[in-house]
Amino acid sequence: MNPPQMKNLTLLLLLLLLFSLHLTSVLSWKKDEFRNCNQTPFCKRARSRKPAPSSLIATDVSVSDGDLVAKITNRRDDQIKPLILSLSAYQDGILRLKIDEDPSSIPPPPKKRFEVPNVVVPEFTSKKLWLQNLDTKTLDGDSSPSSIVYLNEEYDAVLRHEPFEIYVRDKSSGKRVISLNSHGLFDFEQLKHKKPKSDQEEEKHDHDQYQDDDQDQDQVQVKEEKDEDENWAETFRGHTDSRPYGPQSISFDVSFYGADFVYGIPEHATSFALKPTRGPGLEDHSEPYRLFNLDVFEYVNEAPFGLYGSIPFMISHGKTHGTSGFFWLNAAEMQIDVLTAGWDADSGISLPSDRSRIDTLWMSEAGIVDAFFFVGPKPKDVVRQYTSVTGTPAMPQLFATAYHQCRWNYRDEEDVENVDTKFDENNIPYDVLWLDIEHTDGKRYFTWDRVMFPHPEEMQNKLAAKGRHMVTIVDPHTKRDDGYFLHKEATQKGYYVKDANGNDFDGWCWPGSSSYPDTLNPEIRSWWADRFSYENYVGSTPSLYIWNDMNEPSVFNGPELTMPRDALHYGGVEHRELHNVYGYYFHMATADGLQKRGNGKDRPFVLSRAIFAGSQRYGAIWTGDNTAEWEHLRVSVPMILSLGLTGISFSGADVGGFFGNPEPELLVRWYQVGAFYPFFRAHAHHDTKRREPWLFGERNTELIRDAIHVRYMLLPYFYTLFREANTSGVPVVRPLWMEFPSEEATFNNDEAFMVGNSILVQGIYAERAKHASVYLPGKQSWYDLRTGTTYKGSTTYKLDISEDSIPAFQRAGTIIPRKDRFRRSSTQMVNDPYTLVIALNSSQAAEGELYVDDGKSFDFKHGAYIHRRFVFADGKLTSVNLAPTSPGNSRFSTSSVVERIILLGNASRPKSAHIESTNLNVDIELGPLWLQRGRGSAVVTIRKPGVRIADDWTIKIL
Ligand SMILES: *[C@@H]1O[C@H](CO)[C@@H](O)[C@H](O)[C@H]1NC(C)=O
Ligand SMILES: *[C@@H]1O[C@H](CO)[C@@H](O)[C@H](O)[C@H]1NC(C)=O
Ligand SMILES: *[C@@H]1O[C@H](CO)[C@@H](O)[C@H](O)[C@H]1NC(C)=O
Repeated sequence: MNPPQMKNLTLLLLLLLLFSLHLTSVLSWKKDEFRNCNQTPFCKRARSRKPAPSSLIATDVSVSDGDLVAKITNRRDDQIKPLILSLSAYQDGILRLKIDEDPSSIPPPPKKRFEVPNVVVPEFTSKKLWLQNLDTKTLDGDSSPSSIVYLNEEYDAVLRHEPFEIYVRDKSSGKRVISLNSHGLFDFEQLKHKKPKSDQEEEKHDHDQYQDDDQDQDQVQVKEEKDEDENWAETFRGHTDSRPYGPQSISFDVSFYGADFVYGIPEHATSFALKPTRGPGLEDHSEPYRLFNLDVFEYVNEAPFGLYGSIPFMISHGKTHGTSGFFWLNAAEMQIDVLTAGWDADSGISLPSDRSRIDTLWMSEAGIVDAFFFVGPKPKDVVRQYTSVTGTPAMPQLFATAYHQCRWNYRDEEDVENVDTKFDENNIPYDVLWLDIEHTDGKRYFTWDRVMFPHPEEMQNKLAAKGRHMVTIVDPHTKRDDGYFLHKEATQKGYYVKDANGNDFDGWCWPGSSSYPDTLNPEIRSWWADRFSYENYVGSTPSLYIWNDMNEPSVFNGPELTMPRDALHYGGVEHRELHNVYGYYFHMATADGLQKRGNGKDRPFVLSRAIFAGSQRYGAIWTGDNTAEWEHLRVSVPMILSLGLTGISFSGADVGGFFGNPEPELLVRWYQVGAFYPFFRAHAHHDTKRREPWLFGERNTELIRDAIHVRYMLLPYFYTLFREANTSGVPVVRPLWMEFPSEEATFNNDEAFMVGNSILVQGIYAERAKHASVYLPGKQSWYDLRTGTTYKGSTTYKLDISEDSIPAFQRAGTIIPRKDRFRRSSTQMVNDPYTLVIALNSSQAAEGELYVDDGKSFDFKHGAYIHRRFVFADGKLTSVNLAPTSPGNSRFSTSSVVERIILLGNASRPKSAHIESTNLNVDIELGPLWLQRGRGSAVVTIRKPGVRIADDWTIKIL
């Protein structure tokens, strides 16, 4: 090697080194901002406990107010005050368990622990099954008694007295479904009265049980301050949490039986089937899944740390039991371990091992135990059970289910107008144009930058004239500026969250020094809602809707970029107790505001970043600040599937990726996948290059247009699915196993997904992909959505991929309603005729539904809608009414007709079709499946049957 080469090599190595240093510093910078489990005292303590038979026992078991009640005492330590427990059963196979401190204990607890209000829907209470008698007996194989609670025909719940354990079982086989405290890890730290300094030394010795090995090898930055006591103040990265009531965490183990995988507990950028986090075979430093709403800047893929939202609901699915679920209504920081088999090897615990079991450990910093067990046994049963507790998703307006165009920021009115015009010039439909924070006067929400946006009403009205809408951003951080009306009013009324000393909390966010409305308080929520009236929000019009960002809440100078845990809310609630639900109340208040404004007729639309269980009742959500990388496109699918499974059906990821500049190929693929997200919006960071669909050359414009057109064609189908979610909780986009629960090959597939029960979509997540492997489940066939090509089910295909589209298939036996004429916006398609695509199965039959209402108002709640079922059998297509027809109902109708019926799956070509009601014959011909881009084999098409979508009719194929 001669010297110059040598020099080059050294330079190269140096560059490589610098590059890798740069990479690690970027990654570790982000990681260091946030705590890991070892830096989180309650998590570290809970994880250090070993599974062992529980020393807790249930005593004083009785029936009271229709509930089974008991005391939980520690048989080894009578100094620990007993806890009170209640078990209640609800219709449809739901068990609710509550455990809290006993208010009548002596001395009484220093305060009431936080119970999350306004998440459980009021209707749920009326579903309680009142328990009449105590049913206590000693079950086979037990040495102590158990009390039994009836759930439904198939399932009951068992409270085992000693050791204390709760489980739900299948009555006929006696097999367990879910259990709690089977590994004896139940622990409940009771609130303490802060003692005068002199007593604290003694106290320290009382709590030796928590003082696990503090000589940690890791660089632990959390220091439970030694000058005080482990039980009080604690510091993380220079932020001190005063912890005025001492540690107050709760933890317990939950086991799922007959389970092959567990899912849920969003929001994490991870695989859909949750990977184990602890136990044999895993590295010691692997982290539990964290649920703590945080503004995680540039989140990374495959990480268990908590993002913007938290839904403490886990679902298990397996071949033997089917599906079950566990939901812990608790809004404090939560950490959840999924354990690998054998983690409990030396515990002396032997659980029924006849079926596969997945053990999990749940840890929360505060609150109470308010847990729900769902027995399933089918996937859709669990979703229905869960949404009967937290509510089904709101019905969006039609426009909100179409395509949204967003960017941080559309600069001024001229920019808005140009973008709007370009969509038309390029023949690309869109429904909503979004304005980010820069549209305001110095990040003062509800105001306009009057230089850039001098005529906000006129601007909105111009869009509205084309059937389009606008969304502006309104965040919780309120600029502390005495000249700002919102700040003045909130200060005067005392409506802000307080710091630990009782002053208005002051944190740093976009506008600089900011305070945050305390939307836990119903009075403050109602005040906040009134801010959205047309009088109060100057420059807003009926076509303007809202986006809530940064509502975790994001506080740039706070611990982990959020509010300190000892900040105080309404009723003396500490921020630690409600952190994960703060954004939820803010979202709720905003949605109420849009509902109340004007004549109160229109359904609100509010997009939120922070979420909690129940957010589905208030609007859409997106997965936050993702990055223009293939891996982020890939992870968007499991993220959306997890959200859907846990009630949040209306979700999407920023198409194109928020940070960074996507290559055109990535952008195109993102549109192709995004067109199937329930919420379909493109968005981009301030510092990225402009990326409106027409900026990447003609071919790419064509491809993006095509992807957006697919969504617009399928809007009638999507809208029908949104209604299904609204009534049953079953999400618009679902995992394959929700439709094919016994097909094991689908259990951990999170690259493909179902849109409703009829369409399977396989994303493409790699550059220059030439092939994709696609598994098509079920015994029936599938038809390529564009070409009609038939594929047999239960088969994995290696398909050729082009840039045109991603693989998508219609399932045999289904009927999909479409609208094939392209307009500027969904609003302009309202009266357009329909196309029905019938995909025949092996019995030459198919079925599908269509739901239509005015797309806007709440009249549908009083029966003003059309709901049809199309049934194809014996060579006849029949449209039957599914809507109630009782007199007092309001009416909705439309003169829209069916303009084409496409038959997929019959080799023989019928000659004509006969419409029975009008006694007319119509032509049958061969035509393209896809009007605009006719490709593939011609399919049988019934032209212009002309029947009205609102009517009953039958068409016979001859
Ligand atoms: C459907 O959505 C509306 C709001 O859009 C909501 O009021 C209603 O409770 C939801 N559920 C049902 C079953 O209608
Ligand atoms: C074909 O589809 C119809 C309608 O969905 C269904 O009732 C029937 O069971 C299906 N046949 C088979 C063999 O799956
Ligand atoms: C489908 O094809 C079979 C024969 O292959 C024929 O008997 C039947 O009528 C056809 N059905 C329709 C709806 O065209």
